[in-house]
Parts: sequence; C-alpha cells; structure tokens
Amino acid sequence: MSTLKAVRGTRDLLPPETALWNRIEATARQVFARYNFGEIRTPVFEDTALFARGVGEETDIVSKEMYTWSDGERFNEKRLIENWFIANLSIDPNGDEPNRVKLQGTPQFLAKLRELGVQYQVSRTPRFGPDQLLGHAELVSFRPSLSEDAISSLIKARELARSDADSEIQNRQIRLILVLPMDAAKNTWVDTKDVDVERLNGNYFDSSQSLTLRPENTAGVVRSYIENKLGDSGQLQKLYYIGPQFRRERPQKGRYRQFYQIGAEVIGPPSAGSESPVRDAEVLEMLATLLDELGITGWTLHLNSVGSAADRARYNEALRAALVPVVGKMCADCQRRAVTNPLRVLDCKVPEDQPIIDTLPVIADSLDEDSRKHFAAVTAALDAACVPYTRNHRLVRGLDYYTRTTFEFTHGGLGAQNALLGGGRYDGLSEMLGGPRAPGIGFAMGEDRLVLTLLAQLDQKAAPPLADAFIAPLGDGLNAAALVLARELRHKGLWIELGEGSFRLKKSFEAADKSARRIVILGEDELQSGILTVKTFSTGIQTKVPRTELADFLKSQ
Ligand code: HAM
Repeated sequence: MSTLKAVRGTRDLLPPETALWNRIEATARQVFARYNFGEIRTPVFEDTALFARGVGEETDIVSKEMYTWSDGERFNEKRLIENWFIANLSIDPNGDEPNRVKLQGTPQFLAKLRELGVQYQVSRTPRFGPDQLLGHAELVSFRPSLSEDAISSLIKARELARSDADSEIQNRQIRLILVLPMDAAKNTWVDTKDVDVERLNGNYFDSSQSLTLRPENTAGVVRSYIENKLGDSGQLQKLYYIGPQFRRERPQKGRYRQFYQIGAEVIGPPSAGSESPVRDAEVLEMLATLLDELGITGWTLHLNSVGSAADRARYNEALRAALVPVVGKMCADCQRRAVTNPLRVLDCKVPEDQPIIDTLPVIADSLDEDSRKHFAAVTAALDAACVPYTRNHRLVRGLDYYTRTTFEFTHGGLGAQNALLGGGRYDGLSEMLGGPRAPGIGFAMGEDRLVLTLLAQLDQKAAPPLADAFIAPLGDGLNAAALVLARELRHKGLWIELGEGSFRLKKSFEAADKSARRIVILGEDELQSGILTVKTFSTGIQTKVPRTELADFLKSQ
C-alpha cells in the first residue's frame, strides 16, 4: 500500500524548529502588547463572498488561488420520494388506484418504521393472477448514500413487520428496497445483502453556501469588526492575529499552500483618528521594532501610496490609455487585466513584460492634494522616528482593498519570494463589506519567511535545546523510582528527560548525550543511600550529589 503524505504545499513543523516558531510568536505578542494590541481569532473558513468582495474578484488570490467548496449540500428526501413514486409506480403517492398501491399500517407501526429510516411501506396488489388477493409488500428507504446502516435498518424493519401485531404485512412476501440518488457515492464495500438498490436520475441535493479557506485575514477581521459592532465603542480597535492561511500557489521556497501569518489591524470610526497618518507611521515603526527584536537584520521597507478610490480610478484610466498601444505585446494575463483592472498589470512577474511596465505612468502623478499630504505626513513621521524606507512606485499590492499607504518589507536572503510582510491602508473595506465607515491600516508577516530568514542568519538548523538532566534507571525495577525522582525535579521547575530501565548503561549515556546537559544515574545503591551520581557532559566531570541538593545542583551551570 502506498504511504500517505502531507499534501503538496503543506508541511509538518517539527521540533526543534517549532521552538523558533514559538519564540517568534512570543516576541510578536510581547511587542503587540506594548503597542496596546489585543488578539483576535477569526474562523479559518468564511463565506466565499467575503473574499470576492473584500480582496477583489480580479486579484490572483480570488481568481486562482482559493480553496473553495460548496458546503452543506442537503439531501432533498422529499424530491427523491416524489420522483420514485412517479417513476416507479406511475401514480401519485396519494394515488387513486388503491387496488394497485397502498400505503398501509397503523400510525404506530409506520412511526416505528420511520425510526428505522424506512419511510414507506408499499403494498402491491396485482390486478390479475393468482397473487391477486395477497400481493407482496415493499419496505422502501430513501437515503442520500449507500451505507451499512441503511441496509441493516431495512432488514430490522422487515423483522419488525413480521413480528409486530400492528403490521398488516406479517404474512406476506416482503421486498426491501433502498432508493438512492444516481450520483450518490458507490460504496462498493457495503454488502447490500438481499436489499434491492435502486438509483434514480436527477438532482437530490440542494447546495447551500460556498465556503473558502481564508487566503488572508484582513477581510475576516473587518467582517468581525462589522458583525460584532466593534465600532460602536467609538474607540480605535487594535487587533492582532497569528494563524494559518491558505492559497493554491505553486509551491517553492518560502511559498506554501498552507502558510502562517502574524498580522495586525488598526481600524475604527474616523472620529477615533483611524485615518490619521500617525497611525500608518506607528504601525510601520512597530514593524521596525518587531523585526529588530526578532533579530532580523538587513530588511528594506518599500513604501508607496495608491491614493483614494477616486485617485485610483483616475490612475486606472491613465493606465488603460497608456496600455492600448503596448498591451498586444504583453502576456495573456496583462491583456485581460488591461481591460478589467489595469492596476493589476503592475503585479505582473513575467520578465518580458517588465520593460513595458517600466514605461507606464506612475500612480504618484494621479494623487490628489489630500492623498499627497497624507503620504507626506507618513514619511515625515517615519523620518522623525528614524525608520528608513524607499519609495517604490510599483508597489500597488495584489489585493484590491488598499487605499493610500501601501508597504512591503523585503529581505535579500529570501530569494524569489522576498516579501517578509506586506500591508497598507484600506479606508473603504468596511463599506465594501456592508459595514459603517471604518478606515483602517494593517499588515501581515509571513511567519514561514521569518523562520527561513532567521535560520539563514543563524547559518545552521535551530540547535535542539537540551534538557537539564536525563535520569537513567539501572534496571526495569527502578523505573517507578526514576519516575518519582523526575516528578520531584520537574515540580521544582527543572526540565527532565526520563530514561528507561531496560537500557544498558551505554545506551542510556548515548540517549542522554543527545537530549540533556547531564545524566543522573539511579541504581539500587543510589536509591538506598540517597546519593546520586551525576555526569555533566560539557566538562566530563562526574559528581556525587545528595538527593536533597540535586535540584540546586542541576540548576547550576
Ligand atoms: P499579502 O501580501 O498577500 O498581504 O501577504 C502578506 C505576507 O504573507 C507576504 O508578504 C508573505 O510574507 C506571506 N505570504 C503570502 N503568501 C504566502 C505563501 N503562499 N507562502 C508563504 N508566505 C506567504 C495580506 O495577506 C494582507 N492581508 C496584509 C494586510 C493586512 N494588509 C492590510 N492588513
């Protein structure tokens, strides 16, 4: 049998690397707390419409990369029953040909059948022939799929019909019929015994909601802000999140189909100052601090403004006009974008298109006075706080909700996927999702990329952290005593690895050397005398330590 593997683009995060993930998350939480952010956790899946409306239908994320499915397909039993009666009996279920078909039984008996999932008892009385008087009976169950339960329930129903005093079909031949939709899964491993399975053509499932695994978290946060009326407090909401996101992208170094983001959003009514450029500068300054505290050096902050919705509409027109003479030479995606959403042409990564894109107008020329002032105030605050940045005119970001400030932090060590994080302002997103006016700004860091960068900086795999001591019981009989000693030490806050009495001493030493700084030998003598033998691997020194002093000894270096 072939072994099962993690799905392409997903991976397991394992110790010791997970210690680094935890350290990154702990540092982020500390920094967020200092800037007065609180944690928000939104669901991992949302209504597909949230991303279509929020992130934008034309973006790569929504048009190509989402994991979307139709949820809660409900089995329409009534439709299957009606169609079965029409197709199979050629008469109405409440038919007026009682001599051919009858639904029989006392209400109590029919209720018992229904409990077993058998919806109908049908009596067939042929008009002609020797069976004319008696005919045979059918017990019919209508189900969405073939299952062992459906088969055994029908068989139980037949037993019931034969033994129940209320049953009118006790003495007759009873046929069992299971009716399924034609496209119900064909579970061939189910033994259908002597049940006749009939499959009916037609659609017997009503689809309900289209759901999507979140490809990003900003739309979910804003949905939550609206749904939970967070704006009613009149305060700014400062929210951060840490969690998995999902995009069906081509996997490569630093790009996964399940990846992790650490992000934050500042959102609130304009009266709370949510539009102020100082918010943008504060978020960017916090990011510089966070990256420094994580120990990530050598990052570059790329900064731009994509202006207001009106600025962008103006810019889109300028781009559309500029693209007319050149778009014929560009890639198919750009040709489509040139018509639907010219701004997205700037996201193009096709190398041949780059020289053409370099000749297109820049958005800075389409900004109105307010947007220019806003941007100038952001850069002035950054200058004051000594946060370095470079202006990048092409930075329009791959999501449609951005207005005004957009930014990315890149790192040279990452290769092609060099964005450590991205973000920007989204002053109209709440309204786009049917909410009140609630300007906001935020970012998301790719945690996988933070880990890659830190590992590259360390120039080694994360060194496995070592336990304070490894306790080696000498013989099976000492396992319980070793567990008690480990418990004592662990209660005193020590990090203990517990060995195994059946190991030979050499094997215990090898295991201890890999996992702990010291080994504590626990034999009969040690147990009786209360004096333990401890070896420190870094020095090779062996020491006799009284049990009462062991914890302090192990805490020392
Ligand atoms: P984004 O630029 O799509 O923005 O993603 C932010 C970061 O997530 C990227 O810079 C990258 O580090 C990481 N990332 C994205 N896709 C992948 C992937 N397939 N594998 C690994 N890492 C990835 C957003 O998601 C916005 N919601 C950011 C934001 C928050 N804007 C305003 N508020």
